[in-house]
Amino acid sequence: MDKDIYVLGIESSCDETSAAVVKNGREILSNIINSQIKIHENYGGVVPEIASRCHTEVINQVVKQALEQANMSINDIDVICPTYGPGLVGALLVGVSYAKGLSFAANKPLLGVNHIEGHIAANYITHKQLTPPFLCLIISGGHTHLVKVEDYTKFEILGKTRDDAIGEAFDKVARVVGLGYPGGPKVDNLAKEGKNIIDLPTTHIDNMDFSFSGIKTAVINLNHKNPNINKADLCLSFEKTATDMLETNILKAIKKTQIKKIVLAGGVSSNFYIRKRLDELAEKEELEMYYPELKLCTDNAAMIASAGYYNFINKNKSDLKLNAVPNLKL
Ligand code: KG4
Ligand code: ZN
Repeated sequence: MDKDIYVLGIESSCDETSAAVVKNGREILSNIINSQIKIHENYGGVVPEIASRCHTEVINQVVKQALEQANMSINDIDVICPTYGPGLVGALLVGVSYAKGLSFAANKPLLGVNHIEGHIAANYITHKQLTPPFLCLIISGGHTHLVKVEDYTKFEILGKTRDDAIGEAFDKVARVVGLGYPGGPKVDNLAKEGKNIIDLPTTHIDNMDFSFSGIKTAVINLNHKNPNINKADLCLSFEKTATDMLETNILKAIKKTQIKKIVLAGGVSSNFYIRKRLDELAEKEELEMYYPELKLCTDNAAMIASAGYYNFINKNKSDLKLNAVPNLKL
């Protein structure tokens, strides 16, 4: 490509307001993230109405800061890319409406980005040489997908969760053992002190779908019946059983596609135990394993800008009719 492309990414699908400028899909010039965690902590989870209001309050400042830190004005931007789904409808609408207004006022192209594509693209920023095809396991608070990434904008879904996302299960486990919200990182830390000595059920599904409601309920019941159960052991045993399920499907996907390049994505991919187990699997099965750097695992606008770049050079574009799609599919 002869000309550099600068993308302004905007993310507001859940509880992070973020804006970023990314050059040619791979180089972060700025990535401002305003997290609402402190506010939602009081309620033990994300309150959608509060999330929308918080996005509205800070989005202008967050975008301004992203441009300033990149040393750019809106005139230097080639395309404005907001997340338009999946996510909370009110939260998504803040980013989409803001981006539409900016696109109209500055006369810049607009391109809506799928949040799940964004999580995958976080890896293009971390691993400059990474190119499709590969298998991607997207594990986050809202999604658990096993995907064959055929090209930057072409995906085949091999499996997905039939009930809870794995991150939801992490958050629920954290809540019942009294760790609070957001639970994933807290379970991760406590598990480091635990022993894997508690038997939990795995759900076996014939195809490559997942199910985490069974193990979640088992943890809730065990904790309820044995209030003095060792919480660290419970956390590690939960992680172990959940990871077994991830591993089973990764192996099935490798067998089906003959692809041995595996990429992780989403908030849960920062988990220490899961990374350790998958590194061991990689060694045993001679796989190439990739993880996003920790700060790009959870929601951020740089990953959205990266996915936006690959759609933009593929000639995709939105118009001012762009709307939020809360249940948008990959
Ligand atoms: O990707 P993300 O920021 O949002 C969604 O798109 O859903 O993921 C958030 C999820 C939460 O469920 C959070 O508890 C989980 O990722 N998470 C973790 C860890 N860090 C974040 N789960 C397990 N271990 C972690 N270290
Ligand atoms: Zn996300």
